[in-house]
Amino acid sequence: MTAPEQEASGLTRVMDLHGFRFPLGTETLGVSWQPRERRPGTLNLKSCELQHPWSDRLVRDELAALTLRDTIAYPFQDRVLDTLCAYHGLESTNILLTAGSDNGIGLVVDALVRPVGRLLLQEPAFEAWRHYAALRRVRVTGVPGVIGTPPVADPNPLLDALRDAPGPSVAAVTNPGSPSGLLFSPSTMRRFAETARALGHLLVIDEAYGDFVHVSHAPLVAEFPNVVVVHSYSKAFALAGLRIAALLGHPDLCEHIGRFRSENAVGAPGVALLERLAPQRERWREIWRDVRAIRRDFVDRILAAHPEWRVLQPGANFATFWSPDPATADAARDHLAAHHVRIRSLSGVPGLCGCFRVSLADRPQMRRVARLLDSVTDRPSARRNGLTVEEGPAR
Ligand SMILES: Cc1ncc(COP(=O)(O)O)c(C=O)c1O
Repeated sequence: MTAPEQEASGLTRVMDLHGFRFPLGTETLGVSWQPRERRPGTLNLKSCELQHPWSDRLVRDELAALTLRDTIAYPFQDRVLDTLCAYHGLESTNILLTAGSDNGIGLVVDALVRPVGRLLLQEPAFEAWRHYAALRRVRVTGVPGVIGTPPVADPNPLLDALRDAPGPSVAAVTNPGSPSGLLFSPSTMRRFAETARALGHLLVIDEAYGDFVHVSHAPLVAEFPNVVVVHSYSKAFALAGLRIAALLGHPDLCEHIGRFRSENAVGAPGVALLERLAPQRERWREIWRDVRAIRRDFVDRILAAHPEWRVLQPGANFATFWSPDPATADAARDHLAAHHVRIRSLSGVPGLCGCFRVSLADRPQMRRVARLLDSVTDRPSARRNGLTVEEGPAR
């Protein structure tokens, strides 16, 4: 296609940069981008980094042990891959490091989704999926992954979508769900993998929060050639700032994706730190156990003060609450923001109306947040109008 033809088709637009004219793609018009904003004095319970005193100490100690070469030289990945083989129970040829799972999702869209042009996206899901799909002009079929009030996980729309897809597709599932915190059982995940394999589809599983609730889909990778796992080390290993994650998949798929030169986006300090942290499984288990205990205390306090609310189980290093009053989610967010605590209202997220998500920090901070939430109540009119539920399955 010539440049004028491309412009006429809407694929490019000519940018005028102070009189310098140059054609750029139009795909960026459909997405937005905002740099992260520093908010001094604010407790961030929105983006779900791991915030725990023991993981702070562990990461600080290992960081102090890094050598200068761990920063100034291009990284070698052989040793970290050996430790990750043991961690995930896979071979090194099944593992591809990426610069965070955000970058991994972009690679999956580039390398696996773009050629078939079809993404079945179980939602709600991490925003990166739709973002990268839009940049690659890939059609996304959104498939509900939750149903009801309070929401529960629903596998059926995805199973139907796998059956109805007109040709080979990539299906993406997040388990445990984020921002919902809901979980599909191992047998449901196996059913997704089997159905996808029988119908010629790839299944990509984002397990960013799996470690917090004893969930790993690596065994499915060993068994199913059509399963790819996106595994973040940001949350479970408190490495969000180092931007390091892995794609786990069949060696031929990893080799294919590797040709997009993912290795070159991964920095040496992240590689070195991951190599030191991944073998310390027992210490991480202790930390995740304590995160679950902090979550239990926090949830119990909140539900004691708000018996009409529900929590979506099992969550992870966050708790997602549902109120029968749809206005409560924004009210909770705004009330906490006024006290310099950031959380996420999910009132605009399809399937999660009435929900808000609070990620976890240490015990004293969570006690303070629970006290602040004491003064957030459902509107009396909502209660009068019968919006309260008789029973919820997820307490
Ligand atoms: C479900 C899910 N997937 C992926 C990511 C991205 O994680 P990473 O830091 O590895 O890019 C997030 C981050 O919030 C997430 O919630």
